[in-house]
Amino acid sequence: MRDEEISAALLAWYDGHARVLPWRTGPAERRAGHRPDPYRVWLSEVMLQQTTVAAVRDYFHRFTSRWPDVAALAAADDGEVMAEWAGLGYYARARNLLKCARAVVADHDGRFPETSAALLTLPGIGPYTAAAIAAIACDEPATVVDGNVERVTARLFAVETPLPNAKPELTALARRLTPETRPGDRAQAMMDLGATICTPRNPACGICPLRSFCAGHASGIATELPRKLAKKPK
Ligand code: ADE
Repeated sequence: MRDEEISAALLAWYDGHARVLPWRTGPAERRAGHRPDPYRVWLSEVMLQQTTVAAVRDYFHRFTSRWPDVAALAAADDGEVMAEWAGLGYYARARNLLKCARAVVADHDGRFPETSAALLTLPGIGPYTAAAIAAIACDEPATVVDGNVERVTARLFAVETPLPNAKPELTALARRLTPETRPGDRAQAMMDLGATICTPRNPACGICPLRSFCAGHASGIATELPRKLAKKPK
């Protein structure tokens, strides 16, 4: 019951406070049950690996204006895609982007598969990206765990096990909070909460929609979590 109350509070907060991002559907579309385009979700998630939302926005606009769908990207010239990617870094991501677009066209009739298991078979799509696309674009109740989600979950349940050892425990706890309905909104709500309120330093607990449920806040240790194993000296 408590898990459901937490999910409901999170979704209610998201309905009023979701960040407006170019790859998301707007609030009215969300209420009408429209899902975002898997191509745009995939492109944004690949760009957001190791890059901030602020830096990704312009790149996302340029890519989607130039290559509005996966077939267009699959047919693109490699050099032109690499040139548009310049500045985002981690160039293996751009090479995998092209490989993936071409595999979607060659093996899936130009449509992204709709389950996390099938998405995982595509080049450059790992467990995080597969879960994110499946949850956000296909409504699969997949649990999406990134650094923001780990931090929010560690604080909410006062998990004191240090990272990276805590990963399985945090994933299991995040899974408990994954509802059958609106799993994509829930995942993005956790990410937005982590990026805007439950921040690594000076979290804004005073305005947090989950404060009354937060074991870390209740014991006054929220800011210290998640703990991290001390790095081994080299
Ligand atoms: N970081 C990675 N994916 C994201 C998303 N869909 N929304 C907000 N932040 C993100």
